[in-house]
Parts: sequence; C-alpha cells; structure tokens
Amino acid sequence: MKKKIALLAGDGVGPEVTWEAVKVLKKVGEKFNHQFIFQEGLIGSIAIDKTGGPLPSETLKLCKSSDAVLFGAIGDPKYDNNPEAKIRPEQGLLKLRKSLELFANIRPIILFKNLSEISPLKKERVEGVDMVVVRELTGGIYFGQPRLRKNKGNIAVDTSIYSKEEVINIANVAFNLAQKRQKRVTSVDKANVLETSRLWRETVEKVARSFPSVILNHMFVDNAAMQIIKNPAQFDVILTENMFGDILTDEASVISGSIGLLPSASIGKKYSLFEPIHGAYNKAAGKNTANPLATILSIVMMLRISFRMGDEAKIVEKAIEKFIKSGYRTPDIKDKNTPENKILGTKETGDKIVSYI
Ligand code: IPM
Ligand code: MG
Repeated sequence: MKKKIALLAGDGVGPEVTWEAVKVLKKVGEKFNHQFIFQEGLIGSIAIDKTGGPLPSETLKLCKSSDAVLFGAIGDPKYDNNPEAKIRPEQGLLKLRKSLELFANIRPIILFKNLSEISPLKKERVEGVDMVVVRELTGGIYFGQPRLRKNKGNIAVDTSIYSKEEVINIANVAFNLAQKRQKRVTSVDKANVLETSRLWRETVEKVARSFPSVILNHMFVDNAAMQIIKNPAQFDVILTENMFGDILTDEASVISGSIGLLPSASIGKKYSLFEPIHGAYNKAAGKNTANPLATILSIVMMLRISFRMGDEAKIVEKAIEKFIKSGYRTPDIKDKNTPENKILGTKETGDKIVSYI
C-alpha cells in the first residue's frame, strides 16, 4: 500500500521523537512492502518564528492531502511565561484540530508488563489497569465564544458550549470502542453544577440505548479525579468533554509511570492525527534523552486505525515489549536497579526497536 504521512514535528523534543517514529515506519514499510511517503510541515513555536503564525496555510493543506498526520509536540516557555502574547504555539494545534474536525481524542492508559515498578501507585492498585479515555476535542470551553476581556481587562470570559450533536458523535465513539473491550463506559461530567454537563448526561443516556450490551455509569469529574488514583482498575472506557479530558488524561498518565509512554489518536470523519500525549519539554530538546516510545506507540495506533494494518501494528508493539523485557530503559523509566548500559538515548531506543522489527 501507498500512504502519505504529514510530519509535524513541532517544538522541543518533538523533532527527535518524531524522527525515531519515522525510522520505525520506514522499517515496517520495507518489511511489508508498503510505501510510506513523508512530508514535513511547520507548526507551533518554530512556525511562528519562521512564518509569523503557529499554523501556516501550507501545513493545513499538507495535512488535508495526507492519509494521516504524525504530530510531535508544541510549546515554548517564552510563551508560557508571557500572558500578553497574542500569538501562541498552542493555537496551532487547536486550529489544526478544529480545521481537520478531529472531534475524538483517544488516549489509552497502557500498563506495560515488567514496568509496574515505575508506577507511583502501589502494585496491587495498578494491577489490571486497562483503560481508554475518549475525550471530546473540538468543543467545550476550548472553543466556545465569547472569549474576551472586558472592563479594561479586569474581567475575563471563556464560554463552554456543547450541542447535542457533538455529544452524540463522541458518545458513539466511546460506546463503539467499549463494545470491543470490556463493555463499560464511565461518562464523566459535572452535571450537579453545569448546564453543558446536564445536556451531556441526558444525551449520553440516549446514545447508550443503542448499545444494550454496554454498561453505562456516570461520575462527577471531581470524584473521577479521585477514583483514577484510588481504584484505576475499575475503568474501561472513560468518556468526557474537552477540558475534563485534558486534565484527567495527564492525571491518568501518571499510573503508567511515565508520560513518555503514552500515545494518542485524534480522529475525525475525514482526517486523523497521531501524537504522543507529552509536551515539548524544551529543557530536554536536542539532548537525546526524550523517550520516543509514546510516538512509536502513536505509530501503532496510526497503522491500526487509519491504515487498517493490524499485523504491522502488532509487530511494532511486540518490538516495544521486547525492548522493555530485555531490560532496556530510557532515562524517564529507569529505576535504581537499571544498569548503566541498559539506559538508552532517544536514537538508540529507535534503533533497538527497528532492529527488533
Ligand atoms: C493536550 C495538550 C493541549 C490541550 C494543549 C497543548 C493545547 O495539553 O493535547 O492535552 O490542552 O489539549
Ligand atoms: Mg493536555
């Protein structure tokens, strides 16, 4: 098969981890006789430096003419510490999600065999954890209007809006996924306070009727934040809105031991984008220390979801398992018992995975 992949490496450690994933994909292509064609586009802080905006129109065009997008990371501390900045790297990613209508963000919380010791939670607590967060990605408070300052800047307004249709779309994704898994959906909202959450809850209830084999329960977001730490194994599919999903997925990522291990897929009706859930981590940029496994796992999701290449995905997954089983570690997942010669850099990790494929 021939597939065009847009590479948006972005900022910080983004380019390093993206490059390792490309190496892996090239190897998969060789082995299975696929032609993967890579084309790079600018996004984020580096795009602002070079073009004045975080998402140049050429980048958007490139994404729309590709079969899938591989995204590295964006962000730069020079913007984080400057609340006055009108143009920000994150706007690039948000605009991309909106323009490609990537309404469903799928974030599996994977627990690797042989790695449960790096979880900050007790072993008996993380045993059996296997959950996926389905986060609505193009609505809610991230995009609602008005968003403004008034009274000489002393009052700020953000708006959370959801339509019934948006909730139906994302709920369908969650229920379809649950049907192929443990058949349980936990819908997370704040229906005791928010109107959008009440619409959310009543709509999710209706969608659930089309999936009689799936058990639905509702949980308030504050309680969910607690339950994810207290008893993470209770969850199968968590379904939630944009901002709650943003917060809960960072929280849940801690269970696996490192955010450097977790991939994600952002899916729309026409386009799809795959990215590690970690950020740009600019401090580590260029140091060959970032963990490329989250990006390589994002490739696994791309192969499976966008290209329907199940065997190819399996082989990459197996290579990652072998890497960990053989005792290799990147700096973020090493522990005090890891021998020096088993700690690999970004490039060496990519090379090892490629050699196992
Ligand atoms: C994420 C990130 C983004 C978000 C930022 C970079 C805009 O935190 O993908 O979780 O808030 O959605
Ligand atoms: Mg986030």
